[in-house]
Amino acid sequence: MYTKPQQRQLFDLSKQLLETAVTTEHAKDLHQVLHYHEWKYYVQNDPVLSDFEYDSLFKKLEALEAKHPELRTPDSPTQRVANDMTNDFNTVEHLVPMLSLDNSYNAEDLKDFDERIKKLCLIPENEDVAYVVEPKFDGGSIALVYENDVLVRAATRGNGTKGDEITANMKVLRTVPLRANFSSKGIQKVELRGEALIEKNNFEKINAQREAEGQSLFANPRNAATGGLRMKNPNETAQRGLEAFIYQLGYAINDQGEHVLNQFSTHHEGIEFLGNTGFKVPTIERKLCKNIQEAADFCAMWEAKREGYNYEIDGMVVKVNSLALQEKCGFTSHHPRWAIAYKFKAKQATSTLESVEYQIGKIGSVTPVAKITPVQLAGVTVSSISLHNADFISGKDLHIGDTVLVERAGDVIPYIVKAMDELRNGTEQPIVFPTECPVCSTKLVRAASEAAWRCPNFQCEAQVLQRMIFHVSKPAMNIDGFGKSYVERFHELGWLTNIADIYNLDYEAIANLEGFGKRSAEKLEIAINKAKENPIYRVLYSLCIHHFGKKASKLVAQEIDHVLDLQKWTLEDFVNIKDIGPVVAENVTEFFQDPTNIALLEQMESYGVNLTQTEDDKPTVVSEDAPLVGKTILFTGKLFKVSRKEAQELAIKAGARNISAVSSKLDILVVGEKAGSKLKKATALGTVQILTEDAFLELLGR
Ligand code: IVH
Repeated sequence: MYTKPQQRQLFDLSKQLLETAVTTEHAKDLHQVLHYHEWKYYVQNDPVLSDFEYDSLFKKLEALEAKHPELRTPDSPTQRVANDMTNDFNTVEHLVPMLSLDNSYNAEDLKDFDERIKKLCLIPENEDVAYVVEPKFDGGSIALVYENDVLVRAATRGNGTKGDEITANMKVLRTVPLRANFSSKGIQKVELRGEALIEKNNFEKINAQREAEGQSLFANPRNAATGGLRMKNPNETAQRGLEAFIYQLGYAINDQGEHVLNQFSTHHEGIEFLGNTGFKVPTIERKLCKNIQEAADFCAMWEAKREGYNYEIDGMVVKVNSLALQEKCGFTSHHPRWAIAYKFKAKQATSTLESVEYQIGKIGSVTPVAKITPVQLAGVTVSSISLHNADFISGKDLHIGDTVLVERAGDVIPYIVKAMDELRNGTEQPIVFPTECPVCSTKLVRAASEAAWRCPNFQCEAQVLQRMIFHVSKPAMNIDGFGKSYVERFHELGWLTNIADIYNLDYEAIANLEGFGKRSAEKLEIAINKAKENPIYRVLYSLCIHHFGKKASKLVAQEIDHVLDLQKWTLEDFVNIKDIGPVVAENVTEFFQDPTNIALLEQMESYGVNLTQTEDDKPTVVSEDAPLVGKTILFTGKLFKVSRKEAQELAIKAGARNISAVSSKLDILVVGEKAGSKLKKATALGTVQILTEDAFLELLGR
C-alpha cells in the first residue's frame, strides 16, 4: 500500500511535525502521517512510532481542529477509529461502538482528568470521586454477546463499529463461558468487552516450539494473541493458550428491550458480578480507589512491577466507578469521557543507527556496539546498544543509517529488535566487521565453536585494561571501592600498565589527585592491602585465563601449595582433576609457560600479594556431626534473610548436597515466599522434610 520511499518520507515528516508548533497549513500533513501510522499499527502490526509519539501527533490534530472546526473533514483520522479487519471473516456490527481511550502519562495528567470529571458532573473540587483502576491489557480486543444466557457471538474490535466475527474461535477458550447466568439480573441480551491474552511464559513456549518447527517467531505476546483470534481453524486458536479477560459491560437489555445496565450502580459491582458468573476478570490487579490520588498511586505501583506480571500490560485504565456519573460524562466520538488510560513509559522506540564501535573484552573478544541517536526508553536515555557479535549484525541485516526499533524491558539491557527495511532510502551503508584489532592491529581470530572474533594478542592494551578492571572487581580480587573509573583514570595517568601495578600504587600521588584526598587514598590502600591476603583461587581467577572460571580456579587451588607450582603442571595433571576439561587445561598450561606471565606473578608476589595456598583454598571438610551430613537439600521460593546462593553454601558447609529437583532422592525442601509446584510435589511425596527459611537457619544454629 505504501512504497518504501513514501514510508521514509512519511516517517521523516512525522518526526518534523513532532518538533513543530503546527498551524492550519499542517492539517493535511497530519492527516497523511496519522493514516500511515494507523496502517502500520493496526494492519501491519508493525508500528514505526512509539505510542507516545503517535498520541502527540493525534493530539496536535485534535487541538488544531478544535480551533478551526472547518478542518475537521469526514476523512480526518480524528473522525474514526482504526481498523484491524481482514477479508477472511464475516463482518458484524457491535451493539454499541467499541471506542478507544484517551491517554495520560503521569499523576499530573490524572489530576487534570479528575478535574474534568468534577466539572462535567458538577461536583465541588474538594469532594472525592471514586475510581476503579485495572490493567490496560495488551492483547486483542474482543466483544462477546450472550442472548438468553448463551454465547451467541464473538467479534474482534475491528474499526470500533464493526468487527470480524470469531465466534467459533472464542468458543474454544476455557475462559469464555458458553453459558452464563445473566437472567438472574433480568438481562436478556448483553455485550461484554475484554481482551484475549497469552501468558508471557506460555508465549515463550509457543515461540520455542515454532523455532523447533522452523516457523517464524512472534515479536511479542500481543502479536501471538491477535493472530490467535483469527485462526482459520479453531483448534489452532486453542493451541495458542489464549485467555479472555473481561473488563467492561458494554450493553445490556431485558426482554422488553429496555436498557438495564443500571441493574448495577457501579463499574466495580458489574465486574464482580461477571467474576461470580464465571468470567475471568482482573482481581488483584483491580482496585476500587476512593480518589484520584489513590488511583495514581496504584498506577505507579503497577508500572514498577509490570515486568514481574504474567501478562503484557501497557498501562492501567482509570474508570469513574459510579455508572450514574459515567452517564453524566458521556462520550466523544473517540473515547468515553469517564475513563482514561494511564500509559506506562514506552519500552520501545525508534532511533537511527549512527555508527558502530568495537570494544575489546578481557579475553580479547570483539564486541560491536551500536551508537544510536539518543532515545528515551522506559524513562532512561539510551545511546549505546551492544550488537553482541558479527552474526547478530548479519542476522538482523543491520546497516549504518538504518532506522532501528529498540527495546528495553524492565532491568534488561536495551537491544535492537530490528531494522526497518521499509524506511531505507538507499543511503544506508553495510557494517564492515574489522579483520584486525582496532587497538593493536593484530589479525582477529575466531574459534569454530565460538560466536566472537577475538584479538589473540594477550598484551593488547585494550585487553590489559579490561583485565585490570576485572581483576579488582567483586567476583575477582574484590578490592573494595576500586571501581572501573579508578582503573581507567590510573591507566590514563600511566600508573597502571599491568595487574601487578595495582599492588604498587603511590598513595601520596593518589591523595593529591583531584577528587581524592588523603582519606580516600588511605581507604584504597587498606582495601588493596586486604586483597593481598586473598586465597589463591581468587588470584587464579583474576588472571582472566580464557574459560578458566571460578569453579575451576577453586579446584586447581586445592591441589597446589603455590601458584607458581603450575609452571610444572602438564595437560594431564589438569585433566586428572574431575570437572576440568582439555580446553581449560590447555589455556592454563599455555599461560604458565609464558615467561611474561611468570614475571608478572613474581612481581605481584614481591609487592606482597599472597600466592601460597590458604586455609580458604583447601576443600571444605565437613565434620561428622555437622547438622546436615549426608542429606540432600533444595531451596524454592524467595528467601529473605540470606540469598539463595548463600543458603546453598551454608547447606554445603553443614554437610548437605544441593540437588535441583524434587524426587524421592530429596531429603529437605526449604521454602521461601511464593513457593509453587516444588512445594506441592514435595508435600505429595510425603517423604520430604519441609523447612521454612527461619527453621533452616535455626537448624544451622544461626
Ligand atoms: S475500557 C468504552 N478497559 O484498550 C470502554 N479498555 O485504547 C473503553 N483495553 O480498545 C475500553 N484493557 O481493547 C478498557 N481494562 C481495560 C482495557 C481496555 C485494554 C483496550 C481495549 C480498547 C483499548 C483502548
